[in-house]
Amino acid sequence: MRSDGKQRPAAAVAGAPLALERPLRVAVLGAGGFVGSHLVPRLAARPRTKIDAVDRNLDKLEGELPGVRRIEADIAEPGLLDELTRRADVVVSLTAICNPALYNTRPLDVIDASFSDLLPVVKLCAARGRWLVHFSTCEVYGRTALDASGRPMRAMVEDETAMFLGPVQRERWSYAAAKQLLERVIWAHGAHAGLKHTIVRPFNVIGPRMDFIPGVDGEGIPRVLACFMHALMADAPLLLVDGGRQRRSFLEVGEFVDAVARMLDRPLACHGQILNLGNPRNDVSIRQLARALAHAYRALRPGGPPPRLETVTAQAFYGAGYDDSAVRIPSIAKATRLLSWRPRLGLEEMLPGIVADYLARYEGRATAPPLAVAGRRDAR
Ligand code: UGA
Repeated sequence: MRSDGKQRPAAAVAGAPLALERPLRVAVLGAGGFVGSHLVPRLAARPRTKIDAVDRNLDKLEGELPGVRRIEADIAEPGLLDELTRRADVVVSLTAICNPALYNTRPLDVIDASFSDLLPVVKLCAARGRWLVHFSTCEVYGRTALDASGRPMRAMVEDETAMFLGPVQRERWSYAAAKQLLERVIWAHGAHAGLKHTIVRPFNVIGPRMDFIPGVDGEGIPRVLACFMHALMADAPLLLVDGGRQRRSFLEVGEFVDAVARMLDRPLACHGQILNLGNPRNDVSIRQLARALAHAYRALRPGGPPPRLETVTAQAFYGAGYDDSAVRIPSIAKATRLLSWRPRLGLEEMLPGIVADYLARYEGRATAPPLAVAGRRDAR
């Protein structure tokens, strides 16, 4: 291990830098999800890149893309990971259940999807010398940013900030704990067994095709962007959990996948690194997000009454065992340094396009608010 905390690039150790004289082969696991459906076209536009795009459902990955092999299958299917890791130079692992409404209601599925199901991916990449680009989460930092002595920090810094999760009974943290443990497994394979890896911690990436609209193409409670779009299109109030004082930093998905593409161009700089990807300049409260989204919506659909905001308790909205991050601001100094990347889009620039995309996909089909929420609502 080097004294600067960075692992020595395994490719350099093994004397086997990523071969660039032939096309780069990338396996994207979770290619049909929100992020995958933006990442695969971005990588397919890269010269000399061949992609195996794998997911149980690839509907969000629209159209035929050159150099992309579509594989509709579960990664647990016998022999599939074996075949993929044999072919690939780089394995990008995106699969997860990353919806907070499920962390306290289906924690065992969440832990399997974020940890147990991915152990074979790590082991195969280590055994075959593949570069694993693993998508973890900003949730690993927990409730708020603290330094090693427990003092507040403004931003979350990859190699410094402590991990401050809630008690086990607060099942919200089942996801973060599983993600954190997988990070530690990947790190240990890198430090002690030569795995080439990069761990990405995304901070509230938003954009078209995020999640689902309940009752149209999914059931339950999606993440906040889709919850608010559902409410706007259904003429229902936007529900602010515990008043919407909690804060998030939002990054536009196109800027996010641009950073990931830059990683693939800079393997040696990125091997052995953990990287936050987010936009610290878009740190807003959830109440502010609701107002900004309502504004963008009314600009495209003028004439109706002003959208209503209502407070709901976390207990009523998510049920027992929920907990929350109060504030989550990424330090992106490392990403900027290693990738020459800096996100530029503010909320006011990104929201009109996102709202327009939801309208094109769902308008007229999004009706009543999700029953599970409406039934438990406890508006104040
Ligand atoms: C989730 C995942 O757990 C993270 O791993 C992921 O990085 C992140 O989403 C993401 O989108 O990138 P979180 O930000 O808590 O984390 O998820 P959201 O469902 O988007 O909730 C954001 C905040 O809005 C939470 O405080 C939640 O309580 C609140 N919320 C949600 C509302 O006030 N109203 C709603 O209708 C929905």
